[in-house]
Amino acid sequence: MPDSSRPKDTDPGGAKSIASEPRTAALQWPRVTRRGFLYSAGAAAGLAATSLPVEAAPAADERAAAEATAASTVPISLKVNGRRYDLKVDTRLTLLDALRETLGLAGTKKGCDRGQCGACTVLVDDRRVNACLALAVMVQGTEIVTIEGLGTRGTLHPVQAAFLKHDAFQCGYCTPGQICSAVAVVGEIRAQFPSAVTKDVRLPLGEIDADEIRERMSGNICRCGAYQNIVSAVDAVLKGTT
Ligand code: FES
Ligand code: FES
Repeated sequence: MPDSSRPKDTDPGGAKSIASEPRTAALQWPRVTRRGFLYSAGAAAGLAATSLPVEAAPAADERAAAEATAASTVPISLKVNGRRYDLKVDTRLTLLDALRETLGLAGTKKGCDRGQCGACTVLVDDRRVNACLALAVMVQGTEIVTIEGLGTRGTLHPVQAAFLKHDAFQCGYCTPGQICSAVAVVGEIRAQFPSAVTKDVRLPLGEIDADEIRERMSGNICRCGAYQNIVSAVDAVLKGTT
């Protein structure tokens, strides 16, 4: 009995024609080329990227970040090298970044930015401080002195003059911190502050030897290794022979 569900074989080509039709139809029906697929996939992705929920998220984040920054900004007043500066700063701003980035006093150097090298040493009320470890908001009401405030073009500070005379630097990157530290060291010795190598803290300091100077300057690292001449320069200042 003939199967009426099958297409009628009216083609003289017979079996060959019937077998090839479905395969051709299967290939043509979606009418999707690889390039077309990539175009449509790209368009769909673009549409998704511009849809509202996805776009709104970063805008909200940016607004929240701006509000948080505004909330952590405070007015402060700093006195640096005898000059007063009224600033609005983030409470997290370090003294080092306030000096270098906000006030443009780039003589103070950033080495490690974590209290290990001493390149950022400045004087705060005559005491040496690693500016990378102090927040700008902490030093309001103090006298801050940086390398720019120690001497003038025509008149060097005695420690600056001694560093020049004794060739106490090579590349010079650590030098502003070394000089600020040395200024404080000389002040500490003259004020009879003992150090970790002072033999008897109950007695006056007496003569300061190279070990004492090395210990007191040990917070300042010199990658060029100019230590011997740095000690000579500090020694000359202490003896007044610069
Ligand atoms: S930069 Fe401050 S100690 Fe190194
Ligand atoms: S002179 Fe170069 S790091 Fe000290």
